[in-house]
Amino acid sequence: MEKTRETPQHIAIIMDGNGRWAKQRGLPRLAGHRAGADSVREVMKACLELNVKYLTLYAFSSENWNRPEKEVTALMSLLEQFLANKLDDLVRLKVRLRAIGQVDRLPNSTREKIAEIEQATQHHQAMTLVLALSYGGREDIINAAKQLAEDALRGEILPSAFDAELFASKLHTAGMPDPDLLIRTSGEMRVSNFLLWQISYTEMVIVKKFWPEFREGDLFAAVDEYRKRHRRFGSL
Ligand code: IPE
Ligand code: IPE
Ligand code: MG
Repeated sequence: MEKTRETPQHIAIIMDGNGRWAKQRGLPRLAGHRAGADSVREVMKACLELNVKYLTLYAFSSENWNRPEKEVTALMSLLEQFLANKLDDLVRLKVRLRAIGQVDRLPNSTREKIAEIEQATQHHQAMTLVLALSYGGREDIINAAKQLAEDALRGEILPSAFDAELFASKLHTAGMPDPDLLIRTSGEMRVSNFLLWQISYTEMVIVKKFWPEFREGDLFAAVDEYRKRHRRFGSL
């Protein structure tokens, strides 16, 4: 059986366990979220070393709006700080930023920062850092279905012409390859409404460590694990 020897072109990560990491240390949950920013720096570095082309990070889910307002507000302000600090790095490293999700639900100041960085990095080609913000896989699919239905109502396309390729072109991830590798930290064996459509044949690696403990070496280990997998895509 052929083994996957290549480097994944697209790695997606469910960055989970910030709260538990903090709790273990007797710290407020926010301290865990803050510490998680160092792990983001580490995985970006590792992915650039490996020549990974897309790194998608699940930073805030559609369901995370249901957390206490205090935590949501703190997460948004951390996100803004992260973006403000990151611009120099992204420019220096030639990394493009792209946000996916219901970005219009984010506070104005956050949206403006995102738009500014997306614009400033739009021609960068070393890697695309994709931030999933207010992202939900079901919303992504519903949104695509709505767009196709509207195109059909306008008479631009027949429903019988809908296919997977067309559908994918309406998702938030349009133009991106599907993830080859999905990593989730903190040991949870679930997808939590992440890229539902896009992970149909993605290899999954679940890591026990909490997100703030995740380092470059852990990313390399997950990629080594990926390289040992037999990807069959339903064939023999
Ligand atoms: C992941 O850590 C970060 C976000 C979901 C924003 P959590 O905040 O989910 O941490 P745990 O899972 O409660 O430990
Ligand atoms: C998934 O983690 C969302 C992000 C990492 C942004 P959650 O902590 O929200 O997921 P559940 O609640 O454990 O499924
Ligand atoms: Mg969690």
